[in-house]
Amino acid sequence: MTMKPQGTAYEGLKDELLLTREEIAARVAELGAQITRDYKGKDLTTVCILKGAVVFFVDLIRAIDLPLSMDFMSISSYGNATKSSGVVRILKDLDKPVNGKDVLIIEDIVDSGMTLSFLRDNLKSRGAASLKIATLLDKPDRRRVPLHVDYCGFVIPDEFVVGYGLDYAEQYRNLPDIGILRPEIYSK
Ligand code: IMP
Ligand code: MG
Repeated sequence: MTMKPQGTAYEGLKDELLLTREEIAARVAELGAQITRDYKGKDLTTVCILKGAVVFFVDLIRAIDLPLSMDFMSISSYGNATKSSGVVRILKDLDKPVNGKDVLIIEDIVDSGMTLSFLRDNLKSRGAASLKIATLLDKPDRRRVPLHVDYCGFVIPDEFVVGYGLDYAEQYRNLPDIGILRPEIYSK
């Protein structure tokens, strides 16, 4: 187990990191290689789900050795709490149509599954040729709706995690590693 770095940005986290930047980088490289094999000859459009997936997204697309395009979508289901509200809203839609495209949705974490099952149905209805999901993290214990994940970085326990794009109340996204938030931070 690796202890968190000294530093103001890591205040509020448990002392042991869940995933180090080295572990994340190695896994992202593997996922990129797998996606490269699977999408050879296809018309790949990557869709980054803002804001949590941004850090994973910029690393993952650079590990994909294929021509691709990227688009961005912003979805809200959380507010500032640590539990899903169940209400999914599109805050920013895609710039370009995805009909006929092979769409890969890139997300930070699957929790209840509600955000991605909404998104999957939504993009399917726009006529994407194919639709797959890549997530850095998966918390299967918390699933409330069934959801198939095509590419998953790490399966993690039911803890609230931050860093590498993931936030609590918009904080911690800039941490290079992923750690567990101390419960007293969000139960206050
Ligand atoms: P779902 O709709 O419940 O699957 O929620 C997924 C969204 O909830 C993710 O895109 C995250 O923004 C947020 N989320 C869920 N679990 C965590 C966590 O442990 N840390 C930070 N954000 C989380
Ligand atoms: Mg979030």
